[in-house]
Amino acid sequence: MQIERKPPLADELAMLYQQAGWIENPCPEKMRRSVVSDSQWFVARDSDGALLGIARFITDYVRYAFIVDVIIKENQQRKGIGKALMNEVVAECRTLDIDSVNLWPSEGKIPFYESLGFYALPASQPHMKLKVD
Ligand SMILES: CC(C)(COP(=O)(O)OP(=O)(O)OC[C@H]1O[C@@H](n2cnc3c(N)ncnc32)[C@H](O)[C@@H]1OP(=O)(O)O)[C@@H](O)C(=O)NCCC(=O)NCCS
Repeated sequence: MQIERKPPLADELAMLYQQAGWIENPCPEKMRRSVVSDSQWFVARDSDGALLGIARFITDYVRYAFIVDVIIKENQQRKGIGKALMNEVVAECRTLDIDSVNLWPSEGKIPFYESLGFYALPASQPHMKLKVD
C-alpha cells in the first residue's frame, strides 16, 4: 500500500460517498470541484494503483484543522488502512503545529478515533450544523 498526497479522481470520491451512504447520487460537477478544493488529501492505493481509501483535512494552517472524508472501500476495511491514513493525517497536523485538530465521528466510530488519540467533547460542547432551508 502507498499513501499519495494528491486528490482522488472525482469518480472515486463519488463512489466512496455512495458506498458510505453519505450522498445517494453525487453530482459529477460538484465532485470535480470538491477534489480540487483547498484540502490536504491522503489517498491509499495498492501496488496496482487501485483505490483503497481516502482522508483529508481542511485547515487555516494555524488555529484549526478539520478532518473529513475518512472512508475506506468496503471490501478493504479492518485491514489497518484507516489507521495508516489517520496516522499520516495526525503526523502532518503535528508537523504544521496546528492548535486544534477536529473531526465529527459517524455513529459507532468513536472507539476508532479514540484509538488514534482523539477524545469526545462533552455534551455541553456539541457539534452544530446549519439547518437545511
Ligand atoms: C471507520 C473506518 C474509516 C475505519 O477504517 P478501517 O481501515 O476499517 O480501520 P482499521 O482497520 O485501520 O482499524 C484501526 C483500529 O480501529 C478499530 N476499528 C475499526 N473500525 C472500528 C469500528 N467501527 N468500531 C470500533 N473500532 C474500530 C480496529 O479494530 C483497529 O484496532 P487495532 O488497531 O487495535 O487493531 C472504515 O470502517 C470506514 O471507512 N467506514 C465507513 C465510512 C465511515 O464511517 N467513516 C468515518 C467517518 S467519521
